Amino acid sequence: MIHNKKPIGVIGAMQVEIEAILAAGEITAREEHASMTFTRLTLRGVPCVVAQCHAGKVNSAACAQVMASVYAPRIILNIGVAGGTGPQVQIGDLVIASHCVQYDYDLTPMGDALSVIEVPGSGKLSRFPCDGALVEKLRAAAQGLYGAAHVGPIATGDKFVADPAFGAYLYETFGALACEMEGASTAHVCAMNRIPCAVLRAISDGANHDSQVDFPTFAAESAHRAQQLLLKVIQEL
Ligand code: ADE
Repeated sequence: MIHNKKPIGVIGAMQVEIEAILAAGEITAREEHASMTFTRLTLRGVPCVVAQCHAGKVNSAACAQVMASVYAPRIILNIGVAGGTGPQVQIGDLVIASHCVQYDYDLTPMGDALSVIEVPGSGKLSRFPCDGALVEKLRAAAQGLYGAAHVGPIATGDKFVADPAFGAYLYETFGALACEMEGASTAHVCAMNRIPCAVLRAISDGANHDSQVDFPTFAAESAHRAQQLLLKVIQEL
């Protein structure tokens, strides 16, 4: 029976990044862990657990670990908005991570390449993998709903990027199509727990000098585009 299946975990940083999902589901329980609220709900008949983690790598990692330990989700999705850093990436576009990098992890003085992290159970990783089958399902659904989606690297760090030179650096160094603050840290925890993950973002700003205006203007609309896509595809995941 579907309700006995392990849930799908969904993590968003801001309320606006999960509110449409919460509104669309039948809520069965709300629980507090590590000062975060975890909502159990059924979404289109699929058991899910949804949490708001707040911005940043540590918040999202703590949230993902609670989810893994307490709810044993079969997959974890990190959903929300991002700054566009790829040349063809526009506000409103969907970006699905092929993998994520933690661009601000730097042990280069100790001889490691930039963004290489020793991950318990996985050795040294520079790319935090997303599940290929999930990526393909999200991409196909985005193509059906919005006509297209970008699939490529997403760069994660503890910084709101509002500098076109830095956005260009992320694209040139990591091939990043988008930047945000939670994807790679969520994927990092998923790797440690052997949970398949995906990172789904809609572009709210261009990670440039307009971002301080564009982000508050477009965050809600873009966040809802990502959530509509998740609602469309949830039964296939
Ligand atoms: N999330 C949305 N836009 C962002 C940006 N420009 N930098 C980091 N995270 C973001």
